[in-house]
Amino acid sequence: MSQKITAKTIAMAAALVALPMTAGTAFAADGAAVYKKTCKMCHATGIAAAPKMGDAAAWKDRIAKGMDTLYTHSIKGFKGKGMMPPKGGNSKLSDDEVKAAVDYMVEQSK
Ligand code: HEC
Repeated sequence: MSQKITAKTIAMAAALVALPMTAGTAFAADGAAVYKKTCKMCHATGIAAAPKMGDAAAWKDRIAKGMDTLYTHSIKGFKGKGMMPPKGGNSKLSDDEVKAAVDYMVEQSK
């Protein structure tokens, strides 16, 4: 039996499994994927005063501002104690992709 099940093989298999799921939801951007690609570098560790994902205390007051405010701050940028760059610094992201990533982060941080 081949022992050559590499990370690449697993990634390919995962991509195949994920395809039919994304195909049906053309309008729903994948917040988790956007998060991993663009937001995680700051929000996983809380670098530069970024609210850490999963840290309910860090998110409570932000969530209280309302989702619309969080969307706007994420798309246009926001300066508090730290500096949230517009679209996390990735201008290629659509507004909907940024919103999906906000939804994902907030959902994981309640
Ligand atoms: C370069 C680091 C960095 C990246 C990348 C980044 N953020 Fe942030 N983000 C921050 C910092 C720092 C803050 C805190 C700003 C403050 O309140 O002082 C923040 C705050 C936020 C807030 C709260 C805003 C508010 O009104 O309280 C949201 C929501 C958010 N980020 C979403 C995102 C999303 C979505 C992405 C990916 C598309 C992302 N961030 C990528 C650094 C980053």
